[in-house]
Formats: sequence, structure tokens, C-alpha cells
Amino acid sequence: MKAHSTPNIAFIKYWGNRDNDLRLPQADSLSMTLNTPTVEIDVDHADTLSVQSFEPDGSPKELGEKHVQRFAKHLELTRHYLNKLGVTDAIPNKASITVRSGIPSGIGLASSAAVFSCLARSYQGLIKDTIELNDEQASVIARLGSGSASRSIFGGFSALVAGEGSEIDSSKSVQIADENHWALHDIVLAPSLQHKKVGSTEGHALAQTSPHFADRIEAIMNRRQQECIDAILAKDFEKFQAVTEEDCMDMHHVMETSTPPLKYLNEVTHRIIADITNLRTSQHLPVLYTMDAGPTVHLVCTEEARSAVVDFAHAQADCTVFETKIGKGAHLIK
Ligand code: PMV
Repeated sequence: MKAHSTPNIAFIKYWGNRDNDLRLPQADSLSMTLNTPTVEIDVDHADTLSVQSFEPDGSPKELGEKHVQRFAKHLELTRHYLNKLGVTDAIPNKASITVRSGIPSGIGLASSAAVFSCLARSYQGLIKDTIELNDEQASVIARLGSGSASRSIFGGFSALVAGEGSEIDSSKSVQIADENHWALHDIVLAPSLQHKKVGSTEGHALAQTSPHFADRIEAIMNRRQQECIDAILAKDFEKFQAVTEEDCMDMHHVMETSTPPLKYLNEVTHRIIADITNLRTSQHLPVLYTMDAGPTVHLVCTEEARSAVVDFAHAQADCTVFETKIGKGAHLIK
């Protein structure tokens, strides 16, 4: 059963879990699903668990033991969840998984979000004759592999709602507005294609060690998430920009003050932020910056600002540029 999916860019960032094993987040988060680059996954019943992965050029990609273990654990948790829904053995404990990814991994371009949302849709398709899962249930399966993946189940704008308690399905994603609501673009500038040192799975586990973590959670739950949703629904770019940039810098502050500290941003990131801020002021451009767990800068803008932002991006030395826009989310391929 084949599906395809894409990354998303978070405006209110997910950082820190109340349960690391089940990837139950501490706070809500919010993102826009992108239209590209794409991941395609094919799953089938098999006698053993096998995971094959292919590079964007079609050449086979060596997968380390850690990666294979992550797929195995995800399959085990998915089986637990399906048990809870009353369907035992809908998915066997062995499967063959073929991943074709057009996304360079580990540079803050949410490749795991695309992979696990895609896998969740593939599993959903594989078991559709036994149980018809809805989108929110598919988002739970995606979340079990990568929290942010649960948002890429949906197109447009979606929120991962933290929920409460310790049940496997106590947190799920919902769509805020679909991909036709607001034609935003995300011009992505990746200063380095080197793999980051500390992945987000390890990073989430350190979040609580920051003295700023509790204040961050409170700010999101009391105000920021709702402010960002309201700004998106009203298409109020100024409010949207203010709350998104505030939350991004706040997450990086938590990261940099955790023990050990995590420093994902580099000099190139800071230079790009300063330059785009100047350009925005001088040309009154509706554009905002945000960074996930890497030095990669996402410049999110309206249609009106797109060509100026694209020109700015291509003028940056030593950066790879990805031109993306709002997308449709994870889908089965018929
Ligand atoms: O889904 P994970 O475990 O890869 O965590 C994603 C964390 C951030 O990208 C930094 C923020 C987010 O909400 O996407």
C-alpha cells in the first residue's frame, strides 16, 4: 500500500514531551503542511521486518540500526494502538517498508514528519478492510513515530493538540484550515547539508532541564497557540509574524539553556535573520522567519512577497534553496 507525504513547518513549535516513549507532547503546536519535497512509502505484509530506503536519485541508502529500530518500535506501538481500538493483528508484527525520500535528512527540514505521516497513511490503507481509521486516528499513528508527523496528515494548517493523561491516543492532530485558505509560501534556506548532531528525539528529552521550559509551556497553552490560530484564520500577517517569531526564538532559548545546551542556529542563520528583517522593513514585505531543530531558515511569505523573497534567498552564498508552498498533506496513492 503506497502513500506520499511532505514536511510541515511549525509556527508554534513542539519541543518536550510528557511521555517520551509515546511521544505525548507537553504543549500544543501548530504548522503549515508543505507541498514539497515528497516522500513515498510502500508497505506490505512480510515474514520479517525489512526497511529499505532510497536516495532522491534512486540509489539505495544505508540505514543504520538505530533507524531500523525506530521503524520497529513504531510498528509495535501502532499495533498497541490498534489493539486498543479493538483490532488485534490487523497489522502483522512484520512488514516490508520501502521509503523513497526526496528530502535531505537531518537539516531541520522535517524529514521524519514526512516519513511517519506517510507511513501512517500506508498502514491506514493496508488495514482498511479490517478497520476504517479517520484522519485523527491516522494522526495518532503518525505521532507515535514523530510528534510533528501527526500534523502532516492534514493539508493546510493543523494543530497537534497536547491533550491530557497518559493514554496512547490522548494527543492527536486536527486541521485548522485547509490548503485553500491562505496561499502562503515557504522559501527554505539550508546553510548546511551536514547531518545535525543531536536529533529531535534526543532533544525533546532534554527540554525539561531548561529553567525556561515551564514558562514556555505556559505561554503556549495560555496564549500563543490561540493567537497564532486566530491570526491564521483572520489572515492577519503582522500578528502571525509576531507570534511565530516569538515562539521560534523562545524554543531556541530553551534549547540553548538546557543541560547539555543544544545550539542549532549558526552564524549564517543569524545573518539571514538580520538581513531579511532589514529587507522586510525597507520594502514592507509580508515575510517571517522561523527555524526548527537546525540552522535552516524558513521564510514564510504571502504571494505578494514571494518573488522578492526568492531573489533574496538565491542571493545567499552557500545556501541550498527549496521553494515550497502550502500543501495537501499525506495521501494514499491509488
Ligand atoms: O517530531 P519531532 O520529534 O522531529 O520534533 C519536531 C521538533 C521541531 O521541528 C523542532 C518543532 C516542530 O514542531 O516541528
